Amino acid sequence: MRINYQSPTLLILSGLVVFLVVVFIIGLQFRKVEVTHTPLPANLSPDQDVGSFFQTYWQTPIPLQGTAPANFTKQEASLSPQDCGSCHPDQYRDWKESLHSRAMGPGPWGQIIDSTRSNPQEAILCLTCHAPLSEQMPFVTGTATSSGQGHTNNPHFDSKLQLRGIVCASCHVRQHQRFGPPKQEEGEGPKYPEGMPNHGGVQRTPHLERAEFCRGCHQFDPENSLLVNGKPLQDTYREWKNSVWGKAGAACQECHMPERRHLWRGIHDPDMVKGGVRVEAKLKDVPENIQVEVKVTNAAVGHKFPTYITPKVFVRAELHSETGDVVTGSQREAIIGWDARAEGGQWREYFDTRIPPGQSSSHAFQWPRSKGVKYVRAWVEVHPDHFYHVHFYPAYLSSGALSPEGRRLIEKAREESGRTTFMIFDERIPLS
Ligand code: HEC
Ligand code: HEC
Ligand code: HEC
Ligand code: HEC
Ligand code: HEC
Repeated sequence: MRINYQSPTLLILSGLVVFLVVVFIIGLQFRKVEVTHTPLPANLSPDQDVGSFFQTYWQTPIPLQGTAPANFTKQEASLSPQDCGSCHPDQYRDWKESLHSRAMGPGPWGQIIDSTRSNPQEAILCLTCHAPLSEQMPFVTGTATSSGQGHTNNPHFDSKLQLRGIVCASCHVRQHQRFGPPKQEEGEGPKYPEGMPNHGGVQRTPHLERAEFCRGCHQFDPENSLLVNGKPLQDTYREWKNSVWGKAGAACQECHMPERRHLWRGIHDPDMVKGGVRVEAKLKDVPENIQVEVKVTNAAVGHKFPTYITPKVFVRAELHSETGDVVTGSQREAIIGWDARAEGGQWREYFDTRIPPGQSSSHAFQWPRSKGVKYVRAWVEVHPDHFYHVHFYPAYLSSGALSPEGRRLIEKAREESGRTTFMIFDERIPLS
């Protein structure tokens, strides 16, 4: 009886076993070939703590990738951004527009081209942030000397890749293994055609969403770098860390890579600046003279406005007559920025009026009352490359030590750096 009772179950069970074996055998035929990567250093495992993960991930220069797994297609093995773009077109389109893709533009390259010959050590230093893959370095690590003597040429050097700047692979590829952020919610994020080769998958880690990912290039180490009046020339990560944004854990990516876009818009982008900075101008009610106050607030910038030493922001005001003409001699100006310059080998700070997150700076302008004044015009101009255009490039060009190619590039950079200016505020305030 018992046997009779169990036999249908047995039948079903043995049927299931046969079915599973068949599925397994079919599965074997279609099983993905295992991808063999050069073993990654142990502390690049996705659950490694942020500190030691990035110490290895952002070694400079980024170690050679080595030989690609044998089953990679040519495209999967390539480090060139166009090849990544053939399967990731959206990120490529954004990146090409971004300043990261122009990190070897005429300004940096015009200097690096000459230091590669005269001071290889310095060239390598610049490249660790502007073109950080070993494949982008002309010399083997550790052999570059400041005298230019005795260094070893890098057999894996790719001069075309060098000029592409901060390529996809510098942020995403180590030993031919792709690193990416955690997958987005079902239905969001990039879609790929069925069966597209996928470079053996992706190591996914939330570390790519952390501000520490950006720190290496956007923060000079305060212990080991030049300090001007106690401040490193680039202090963005620390400014962020000490701000409400850093304390709330709102990483750089939340503002600079919204929806994971690869544009990294910053001070060269008018809409980005307008989105972070509030400007108000108002007439003061005083009988004895004309007074206008322009208040600039760092409302939603995750660090000082501006953070770097190169931009200047001009707050300007002037009087206009009934006919609309500027009243002669009425122009007034205040500057927001950090004015520090190297003069005769010594750095000197002139002023630092940058606005920390959440704070404002008020600029009051006044004129004696006079008849015929119709309105005050107040406006705010952003000059993202002021330091380069006005101080650095002219001084560098007259220093004389440039090759003809270096000079051509720096002249181009000087010209381009004068064309990036824009306005974020412009108002006419009628006198009552
Ligand atoms: C032949 C097509 C192809 C090429 C070339 C390619 N990828 Fe991919 N990539 C894929 C596919 C398919 C996925 C999805 C893999 C998965 O989800 O397991 C992917 C996933 C990724 C991810 C994870 C993000 C996501 O959408 O899931 C990153 C990051 C990435 N690739 C970076 C790169 C970089 C950088 C390069 C160039 C060095 C590159 N890929 C070249 C096909 C490609
Ligand atoms: C490998 C070094 C490197 C890494 C990593 C890096 N950056 Fe950059 N970043 C640069 C360099 C160099 C430039 C300047 C490029 C140029 O204009 O020549 C730059 C430019 C920018 C700009 C534009 C600034 C402007 O003047 O408008 C923004 C914004 C930015 N980066 C944000 C980020 C964020 C956010 C991250 C992290 C997700 C990041 N960067 C990671 C090196 C890096
Ligand atoms: C620690 C990383 C780092 C190093 C090292 C570094 N830079 Fe930069 N550089 C940056 C970042 C980040 C920016 C963009 C800053 C910003 O806009 O806030 C930048 C901007 C520039 C710019 C202006 C942008 C442009 O494309 O015209 C020039 C020129 C430049 N760097 C040249 C150099 C040179 C030359 C060296 C070597 C002597 C060097 N950099 C070393 C990170 C670095
Ligand atoms: C300066 C570093 C940097 C560079 C250069 C860079 N990426 Fe990314 N990428 C990131 C970071 C950081 C994230 C994760 C952003 C987040 O989660 O907010 C990311 C995310 C991605 C994703 C996942 C997007 C999604 O919606 O899930 C893909 C795919 C990708 N990158 C491909 C590329 C390709 C292709 C290039 C070159 C054309 C490139 N990246 C260049 C830093 C970079
Ligand atoms: C709350 C949003 C927000 C966060 C968080 C944030 N930024 Fe910005 N960032 C901005 C805005 C807005 C601008 C444009 C105004 C400006 O230049 O200060 C900007 C400008 C920049 C610039 C242009 C250069 C300059 O002198 O201003 C760089 C470089 C930059 N950010 C890097 C970073 C890095 C790196 C982090 C993380 C450590 C970060 N940002 C965090 C909003 C943010």
